[in-house]
Amino acid sequence: MTGTKLTSGTEWWRTAVIYQIYPRSFADANGDGMGDLAGISARLPQLKDLGIDAIWLSPFYTSPQRDAGYDVADYCNVDPLFGTLDDFEVLQRTAHDLGIRVIVDIVPNHSSSDHGWFQAALAAGPGSEERARYTFRDGRGENGELPPNNWESVFGGLAWTRTTDPDGTPGQWYLHLFDSSQPDFDWDSDWVREQFRAVLRFWLDRGVDGFRVDVAHGMIKAPGLPDYTPPAEGGSMGGAPASALEPGITAETPLTAPYWAQEGVHEIYRDWHQVLAAYPGDRVLAAEAWVDPLSQMAKWVRPDEMHQAFNFAYLETPWNAAKLKSVIDESLEAFGNVGAPSTWVLSNHDVVRHASRLALTGDNLQGHGIGPKTVGLPDTALGLRRARAASALMLSLPGSSYLYQGEELGLPEAVDLPDHAREDPTWFRTKGERYGRDGCRVPIPWEAAGESFGFSTGAKSWLPQPREWAGLARDQQDGVAGSTLELYKLALRLRREHSLASGTVEWLEGFGPEVAAYRNGDVTVVANTGTASVQLPAGDVLLASEDLVGRTLPGDATAWLRSAQA
Ligand code: NOJ
Repeated sequence: MTGTKLTSGTEWWRTAVIYQIYPRSFADANGDGMGDLAGISARLPQLKDLGIDAIWLSPFYTSPQRDAGYDVADYCNVDPLFGTLDDFEVLQRTAHDLGIRVIVDIVPNHSSSDHGWFQAALAAGPGSEERARYTFRDGRGENGELPPNNWESVFGGLAWTRTTDPDGTPGQWYLHLFDSSQPDFDWDSDWVREQFRAVLRFWLDRGVDGFRVDVAHGMIKAPGLPDYTPPAEGGSMGGAPASALEPGITAETPLTAPYWAQEGVHEIYRDWHQVLAAYPGDRVLAAEAWVDPLSQMAKWVRPDEMHQAFNFAYLETPWNAAKLKSVIDESLEAFGNVGAPSTWVLSNHDVVRHASRLALTGDNLQGHGIGPKTVGLPDTALGLRRARAASALMLSLPGSSYLYQGEELGLPEAVDLPDHAREDPTWFRTKGERYGRDGCRVPIPWEAAGESFGFSTGAKSWLPQPREWAGLARDQQDGVAGSTLELYKLALRLRREHSLASGTVEWLEGFGPEVAAYRNGDVTVVANTGTASVQLPAGDVLLASEDLVGRTLPGDATAWLRSAQA
């Protein structure tokens, strides 16, 4: 039982439902097939209607788009693909007028290789101040022809690229944990630190409510950049090897990857905390830190560091009652111990959408993308059923929840994208071995009619939308009893009315091993991860992810009830 109240404080982000907008794929106002800021502004009333508290915008900054905008060439401007700074002002004003907060993305581990800072570093040559802002090294081997160490890029292939000096001869190498177009900064540089303080202030001055911090566990590298071979089973974005999940491993156990979760990152976040604290209102820093176990991740949200961290342990938990109960307990305890709320998340732009993932079997569970030739493609109906049940459980939990655009429509992963349409660098860097993340990034359907399902004012969409998505379009679900959209709306309304996000988890026994049942204030939640029906306890049914048969909850379904003796 986790009956004690583990979080405290009244800041809005402790209980917020934050909706992730992936600007490329949300709504396109200028008809070019690529989403934009004006498109987002126009659709905000529909998010208000959904009942969310805040939006997080994935990058819309100036960028050559080699990693869909996570390759930033100017941190303080809007890429013409998405609009202008004025369009951002309109978006933010519209959101704030609707009572929706705005969180923007910040990408501090690396810039685009097109960034003026990196171009200046290339031009200035070895030993220069400009080069010291990035991670340049001489190569190994007789003529520097071997990379400085054996690190591999998260997207596949070497994490180093060799430069060419102005006279055409091969030069130094630069580090890129991601694509070669994303050179890593050297955060030992005070200059880099000052630039990023200025970037934070630029957006804070414009009124943003916070930042989602990209690769918040990667900015500091171990001295000497020692060789490291990750375990085959380790997550590519970080975290500890599987052995670190074994009993006996504690928050003090050092992680081994010399580029993830180094102690030095915390100093940066203490500094950033101060930058935000100088502004009125409760501005928030949310860490994307793929760190295991949760007791380690909680270090990112100690009281003087960030405010939230994405709970990827929860995202990676299969649809299994015992495992869900254990990750929920572990999350509330780990985050509660440092006075932070737990967050909950099931989908984002980097992982297989949960309406498909929860029905996957086999080797493809960890979000490397799935495609037409993936063995054991998920059963769509089962995936949707589990996704609805999983979302209903998540939205009942105390803390803050993140939603990814389109999950409220029950969108599955697009598994049959033609190869020529793919854009994820993972696909190219692994020569098609890993499908990458395009399947969760397909533009979302607003209306059943029309070539782009209302995504664009024109006919195009930058990734092709599956034709069967017509039936999942928002206009087909809005106001339709039992639709996934109405399920989300109801969950968000009840969550507010019953103050579930500031409540507690008190497990209830007696429902069998495949059921996670608990009480949160005056609401009882029963999540049935098995296939057999279970008898519901007394109390009015407030919400059910599937039709009930009398008082029985079918398999792969979640119900909320008014607790009998509240
Ligand atoms: C994490 C982002 O979520 C992902 O989309 C991106 O490719 C990497 N960081 C590199 O910025």
